[in-house]
Amino acid sequence: MRKLVIGAAMALALAACDQAATQPEGTTEEGAMTGTPFEKLADGREVTKWDLRGADGSGPIIMDLGATILSLQAPDMAGEMADVTFGFDTAAPYLTDSPYFGAVVGRYANRIKEGKFSLDGKDYTLAINNEPNTLHGGKVGFDKRVWKGEPVTTADGKGVKFTLVSPDGEEGYPGEVTVSTTYVWTADHKLIVDFDATTTANTPFNIAQHSYWNLAGANTAKTVLDHTLQINADKYTPVTKNLIPTGELPPVEGTPFDFRTAKPIGRDIGQSNEQLTFGGGFDHNWVLNGSGMRVAAVLVDPTSGRRMTVSTDQPGLQFYSGNFLDGKVTGKGGNAYPYRSAVALETQYFPDSPNQTGFPDATLRPGKPFHSRTIYAFDTVATN
Ligand code: BGC
Repeated sequence: MRKLVIGAAMALALAACDQAATQPEGTTEEGAMTGTPFEKLADGREVTKWDLRGADGSGPIIMDLGATILSLQAPDMAGEMADVTFGFDTAAPYLTDSPYFGAVVGRYANRIKEGKFSLDGKDYTLAINNEPNTLHGGKVGFDKRVWKGEPVTTADGKGVKFTLVSPDGEEGYPGEVTVSTTYVWTADHKLIVDFDATTTANTPFNIAQHSYWNLAGANTAKTVLDHTLQINADKYTPVTKNLIPTGELPPVEGTPFDFRTAKPIGRDIGQSNEQLTFGGGFDHNWVLNGSGMRVAAVLVDPTSGRRMTVSTDQPGLQFYSGNFLDGKVTGKGGNAYPYRSAVALETQYFPDSPNQTGFPDATLRPGKPFHSRTIYAFDTVATN
């Protein structure tokens, strides 16, 4: 009898172990995602991370601080996975050292000239964090806030929805904005990003995903100058020396900004062109052709064959060639990210729209909820 009881107890214990072994971290017994504790910040905020990777190991891990993509595993032609996005191993450096690696930026992505705009006859002054302008929402933008994460299941796959309330007056912006970012990773290797927002008063609103991509792998420390890029845009928005659009929308034809046909990023980056001197390379907004959901850009690493196709319903795309990376920021695995070793492809409204009457209107209004979608699709392509 005694033997039987001990045997039964052992069987139960083994069954419990089995369950722990088969139940992936960050999920409930039923398989729903819960997120796992990542880090407690010095200011006491708890940061949670969410693992959206699929059965093949591909996909992102995302944290609630800044709704930030921490890593994204994508296969090359041989099926070999690599993390293709920049970041840090821990959460704290995202508050102090990060040039917006992987984050969602807002309330107004990109620059607003001298942090000033007028709306409905009233003048507003914003926090200046990129002299003499406001960049990516100000001193404490959406990237430095801890969002509230919850699991979602859609027809496309499993995901996480992050929600944030940006109070009236935050960084100088009017109206209380409730914003969410939903990430879903699909079995066919697409990252679907949905942005939704409402407001209690008219406010400029522009939101973008700010990941830095190197499709050869984020730890290769290679530049992205041999990656090829195609941008679906006939026009772009040239800037002044402070990276504020002049308001003109000239054709890209005959300039280094012509990416209508895929070309290596490095091919024309060294051309003598005043526009390339202001941000030390490409750091401009392209005026995407067409409207509705369409392909904005295609990025290919010719060595691994990894290809990322960015589709969006947004009017613009900021292509930033990592010109301010200088090897001083040490990221994941102790990698010092060198000059031009990643690109950001930020789907968005145009920079400084609140001060530019000729640009699409980026005002979020009560009763008119904002919705936009961007998809990053990963596959491979045989090169040469
Ligand atoms: C801007 C760059 C800036 C970078 C990091 C990009 O979106 O276009 O000018 O240096 O963000 O802040």
